[in-house]
Amino acid sequence: MSKHLVFPSILTADFLHLADEIDMVNRSEADMLHLDIMDGVYVPNLTIGFPVIRQIRSVSQKPLDVHLMIVDPDRYLDAYRDAGADWLTVHYETCPHLHRTIQRIRELGMKPAVSVNPSTDVSLLGPVLGDLNMVLVMTVNPGFGGQTFIEASWDKIKKLRQMIDEKNGNTLIQVDGGVTEENIGDLIAAGVDVFVVGNTIFSADDPLQVIRNLKTHP
Ligand code: DX5
Ligand code: ZN
Repeated sequence: MSKHLVFPSILTADFLHLADEIDMVNRSEADMLHLDIMDGVYVPNLTIGFPVIRQIRSVSQKPLDVHLMIVDPDRYLDAYRDAGADWLTVHYETCPHLHRTIQRIRELGMKPAVSVNPSTDVSLLGPVLGDLNMVLVMTVNPGFGGQTFIEASWDKIKKLRQMIDEKNGNTLIQVDGGVTEENIGDLIAAGVDVFVVGNTIFSADDPLQVIRNLKTHP
């Protein structure tokens, strides 16, 4: 069995029963909980703020993987740490001084990750790859759950796998967007380590079983 990780994204969860949704994730084989933070500027959607993250932190038994889709994330790195982020992902496209941002995230005690949009070349991350715990390859345009996996992602994933292996690195490759029980096998084979999964889990009749299927996929 491969050692891939599954991070449920609560973007499409039932927010009127959020405690129940998080309780389901707590009882599941999921590895971390993925929170999507959107500011309505960097992406055309808005999600949750610090008080909600803090409340989620207080009930989640899984570490929090916080994915920032906001402009100027440097302004808020401390605040996300204080709200309970364990891993923190910034978008390459939002950080003019990416190296500094990554160092700061680590100094604050979080694990740094950088995300690239579908139109951004993964080779741009070469100079910082060794400083990162994880690279997030967006496999949809960020902003919404339930979108279709962008096929051009395959080449990016393979290229990134090669870049990491050439350096004998242990930076994880994460994908986010359009992951299903149908495509996860090919993604594991392409070298993906971490799967963010929203709609496939939260629209299912038996989300616990879906998480188990995703986790135990050979
Ligand atoms: C999109 C978010 C994703 C989203 C993935 O901007 O980053 O985390 O929830 O959702 P699905 O799995 O539904 O494509
Ligand atoms: Zn995300």
